[in-house]
Amino acid sequence: MPRLYRDVSVFMSNRIIILLGVPGSGKGTQAARLVNRLGYGHISTGELLRALEADPNADPADKKKLIAMRAGKLVADDLIYKLAFREIEKHLARGSGVVLDGAIRSVVQAESYQKFFEAKKLANEIIAIEIHISDETILARLRDRIKNQGQQRADDDPEIMKRRITEQGNAALKPILDYYRSLAALQVVDGELSMDEVETEIGSALRHASS
Ligand code: AP5
Repeated sequence: MPRLYRDVSVFMSNRIIILLGVPGSGKGTQAARLVNRLGYGHISTGELLRALEADPNADPADKKKLIAMRAGKLVADDLIYKLAFREIEKHLARGSGVVLDGAIRSVVQAESYQKFFEAKKLANEIIAIEIHISDETILARLRDRIKNQGQQRADDDPEIMKRRITEQGNAALKPILDYYRSLAALQVVDGELSMDEVETEIGSALRHASS
């Protein structure tokens, strides 16, 4: 076990870990590692939306909103809150923290989550971590994923990938970063490093925020 995870108590003041980053930045990869180490709940809105898409019993009105995802655009806020808040509630109810993976994609969403956590008196336990990569690296990462795993997701299509970069790249992320910076809740790690190095940087960011 890496040194930085030996003392899990260092994370106790960060029960809400928000991973921010452009598509392909490694949010899912690092969220899985954090969840594995800390026993927190993993809230991936992308996964929740794909599960909804695969659910034959899901509300057709909700499913209709997934057209945006297939086109590489953001899905309607109300559906995101419906899916994510319910999952977060479940994990908090069993006393665990949560790792939010791609769950916040606009300032409007950031403000809504903030209100949600404030109502639960958890505003002081939030840390947002940006895993930063360049827009050029996004395309290389997503292409590699297709090469290694085959195209498992409809939005990993070359044309839609370009749309995701336009709509969800670094320019779109900036106001969200500014929002968390204004709350003094933002840490940035270098997502261009290896997966293990990024994990170590995240551990340091969590340790720093707790000290
Ligand atoms: P989502 O499923 O969250 O996709 P995404 O944001 O596009 O992110 P990815 O899953 O593609 O990448 P990632 O950052 O998780 O990186 P990963 O670890 O996989 O969302 C899908 C869609 O749902 C959105 O486009 C949107 O339509 C909708 N949606 C979701 N949330 C929403 C919200 N809140 N509001 C509105 N709409 C929403 O890594 C990528 C690849 O790189 C992998 O192959 C991995 O092995 C590799 N890799 C990871 N780290 C490294 C490293 N350090 N070095 C080298 N390779 C690495």
